[in-house]
Amino acid sequence: MKRLKMMAMALMMGASALAQVPAYLDDSQPLEVRVQDALSRMTTHEKIQLLHAQSKFTSAGVPRLGIRQLNMDDGPHGVREELEWNTWKPARWTNDSVVAFPSLTCLAATWNPELSAVYGNAVSEEFAFRGKDVMLGPGVNMARTPLNGRNFEYMGEDPYLAGHMIVPYIRSAQANGVACCLKHFALNNQEIDRFAVNVNVDERTLHEIYLPAFKAAVQEGGVWTVMPSYPLWNGIHCCQNDSLLNGILKRDWGFDGATISDWGGTTDTWQAATGGLDIEMGTFTDGKVKEAEFGYDDYYLADKFEKLIDEGKIPMSVLDDKATRVLRTIFRTSMNRQKVIGSLCSEAHYDACLRIGEEGIVLLKNAEDMLPLDFNRYERILVVGENAVRSLTKGGGSSELKTLHDWSPLESLQKRFGAKIDYAQGYSSGRAMYDKVDPVDPALSRQLKAEALEKARQADLILFIGGMNKNCRQDCENSDRENYHLSFGQDELIQELAAIQKNIIVCTFGGNAFATPWIDEVKGFVHAWYLGSMAGEALVRVLDGTVNPSGKLPVTFARRLEDYPFMEYGAEAYPGVNKQVYYKEGIFMGYRHFDTRKVKPQFPFGYGLSYTTFEYGKSRLSSKTLSDGKIVLSVDITNTGNRAGKETVQLYIGQRKPSEVRPVKELKAFEKVELQPGETRTVEFSIDRSMLSFFSAKSHDWVVEPGRFDAYVCASSADVRGQADFRVE
Ligand code: GLC
Repeated sequence: MKRLKMMAMALMMGASALAQVPAYLDDSQPLEVRVQDALSRMTTHEKIQLLHAQSKFTSAGVPRLGIRQLNMDDGPHGVREELEWNTWKPARWTNDSVVAFPSLTCLAATWNPELSAVYGNAVSEEFAFRGKDVMLGPGVNMARTPLNGRNFEYMGEDPYLAGHMIVPYIRSAQANGVACCLKHFALNNQEIDRFAVNVNVDERTLHEIYLPAFKAAVQEGGVWTVMPSYPLWNGIHCCQNDSLLNGILKRDWGFDGATISDWGGTTDTWQAATGGLDIEMGTFTDGKVKEAEFGYDDYYLADKFEKLIDEGKIPMSVLDDKATRVLRTIFRTSMNRQKVIGSLCSEAHYDACLRIGEEGIVLLKNAEDMLPLDFNRYERILVVGENAVRSLTKGGGSSELKTLHDWSPLESLQKRFGAKIDYAQGYSSGRAMYDKVDPVDPALSRQLKAEALEKARQADLILFIGGMNKNCRQDCENSDRENYHLSFGQDELIQELAAIQKNIIVCTFGGNAFATPWIDEVKGFVHAWYLGSMAGEALVRVLDGTVNPSGKLPVTFARRLEDYPFMEYGAEAYPGVNKQVYYKEGIFMGYRHFDTRKVKPQFPFGYGLSYTTFEYGKSRLSSKTLSDGKIVLSVDITNTGNRAGKETVQLYIGQRKPSEVRPVKELKAFEKVELQPGETRTVEFSIDRSMLSFFSAKSHDWVVEPGRFDAYVCASSADVRGQADFRVE
């Protein structure tokens, strides 16, 4: 009996103890209840502690209340290696080697939202397993100039493509309880003077070109954190810019999460406190290497801000709003019992890496149906180029990764074709350096080139594997490219190789467009962006036809740098003069310029070949008039070749007589379909008024004007396969 009584007592105590679990610790409670309960228990100083770094990549929780800190880490393509708690030096851990996933430009080039969800799920499982709560990515800045060092981290030149492609990545990552941190908000479109350049852009261009991808990520993706960028807008750093953060992001778009400054992007207490910054990171450092003798309490949102609160100069409501947003992020991630354990370097992750890479590779030329290669037809295959062996998961700045294993193109070729494969480096890019260019010894260049040309004479097939490599000025944070050409003598080398052996295929890696002066002298050309850990496998599976390429360009490849719109306006338009840059081309950026101004590019936005062919039927509209609701455009797509393939059908819309100038057409929808040989599929697009609007500079708002519009069904921005016009009442 006594035992029973004891047990009953224990149960009672347990139940009452359970009943006393504070709401903020009870994750059966609604999020807002937990947040407000936690906030009500915190002192002013504890609220302040939430708002700034306590180490290089963590911000504080509330130890006294058992509220966890936020563990953050780069980057968009995988989990950065562990750095020391308080320095930029690698911590040299032995359990932080990861999978490097393809660059986000490669993901954009797949035009496949399903793969975007696969990507977000896989990469966030690696972040979760490494104990991280916030992944510092993705980035959706627009590729305004092909010289920008960080375009490889972004999703191309069109805001609709970038926005539509990044939403699934965010949703699936956050479903695992890992917060994305959308960056770099906003106007971070060059690396030259990135900490200090003031971006002058007209309101219409800002809303039509540079904000929409961010807006989609917030409103459709539900992103939990946003990283304001280094540059200035209207003379104020984006990290502490009231109209950008409190105005556009929080008030207009309804963003309910936390803003996390770029590292070193905060410079002023009053601006940061009243300008919408919630967590200040990396202050007094340059976001890459410089350290600071200052402590974390010297941060702008630390003691200085607390003093303003204590003196009543800034109301407690401002502090409470920030703390609320940080607590919301904590309860969504580090204190979210649904957060997954995750995994690291699993087969599923390598498979995801391979699938995304394969689908992002763009086939740009295939003369005489040279590709796919029947490797058995060739006796001596010469591989030329540094990128055949170089691990391109290193370098590039904060997005660089320490990988467990990378498959290089040469390794994958040798695994399959062994002794048939010969190799010549062909050129050197010097030592891998990220803050300065390592000059290459001309004698070495001559020697490497001579060796390659000598070997070429014995080869019956040449695979050139080059491009850019994430060195300084070669697709790297904190530096832009010096010119539009491939570096290290690659262009001349390709031309001399082609003169020796006409069976030559060029394969390039890189996050940007570049000049292709050799294009008429080679038989095949594929561009592979950066493919991550499975690079060699993805590339070879496309070359040998295991995979039918289906990538399409998310950026325009112009013939010459001078053909890009910003080039018309000189240094003021890029990289700026006296730290002022002017986006003088306005909305005519990317294909909007080439298309409307009839400047023929080398390869247009949305272009990509396949090993099969597709036929587009007639475009049919459900109605010739659109008032409210929607009309439907249908088009039949047929695979007219002899192998299965995927085609991305693109819908562009143009207004015939707008009251304000508009591009001739703009991407408004796309659908990627897989078709068996001979198969026909009907693709349908719903067209509604939201796809017809432009941001009027006169009324400072989105407007839809009555009149005639054209719907263009395209295989690329320059390849119209069907057109149907309709009236808007
Ligand atoms: C860097 C980058 C940002 C990165 C952060 C932390 O300077 O601009 O993308 O997430 O600092 O490394």
